[in-house]
Amino acid sequence: MKKRLGILISGRGSNFEAIADNAASGIIDAEVAVVIANRPEARGLESARQRGLNAVCLPSKGLDREIYDRQIVEELRKNSVDLVCLAGFMRLLSAGFIREFPNRILNIHPSLLPAFPGLDAQHQALAHGVKFTGCTVHFVDQDLDAGPIVMQAVVPVQDKDTVDTLSGRILEAEHEIYSRAINIVLDGSYRIEGRRVLLSDDLRG
Ligand code: GRF
Repeated sequence: MKKRLGILISGRGSNFEAIADNAASGIIDAEVAVVIANRPEARGLESARQRGLNAVCLPSKGLDREIYDRQIVEELRKNSVDLVCLAGFMRLLSAGFIREFPNRILNIHPSLLPAFPGLDAQHQALAHGVKFTGCTVHFVDQDLDAGPIVMQAVVPVQDKDTVDTLSGRILEAEHEIYSRAINIVLDGSYRIEGRRVLLSDDLRG
C-alpha cells in the first residue's frame, strides 16, 4: 500500500504543490492523504482543493498550543498519515505532537542550517554577506529549525541579488530536495547517529 503524507501549511504552498506534483507523477512513492492549513487564507488550501486533494483548515488563532496540536494529530491519525511534512507551517510543534510521530516529521528551511534559523532566512543571509546559502530538509524536534539534517542544497549568492531573487532560486532548490528527502525517509534508507542522518550510497544522488 502507498505511504500516506500529511502536509501542513500556513501560506502560499509552493512546496506542497511540488510534493503533490511529484506524488501524482510517481517521483515520490506516496500519496497526499491530507493538507492541513492553520490559516483560512492560506493560498495552498485552494490549490489543494483544485487538485482534488483532501484539504482541511484548522484555524490555530487564539488556541493553546497543546490543544491545537491535539486537533492536528487527530486529523493526521484520521487520515492514517505515515509522514508529516511541514511546508511553510509557521508554528512550533509541542512535545506531544512530536512524540506522536517519532522521526516522522520533516521541515524545510530556506538556509543552510544551522545558519540563519527563524524568520526571513534569505534576508539574514544577504545581510550577513554570505557567498553561499541554500536550503535544508531536517527532522523536526522541539527546537526551532534544529533537528537532524536529512538533505541540503547550496545556492550561491550573487552580487545583484535581492531578497526576492535569492528566495526564488532557493525555492527551486527546495522543491527539488524536499521530494528527494521524503523518498529517503519513506524508504528507510538512512540511519540516525546522534545528529547525523547517514544515507545509503545509492540514494545520495
Ligand atoms: C519556504 O521558503 C520554506 O522553506 C519556508 O517557508 C517557505 C514556504 O513557502 N519554511 P511555500 O509556502 O512552500 O511556498
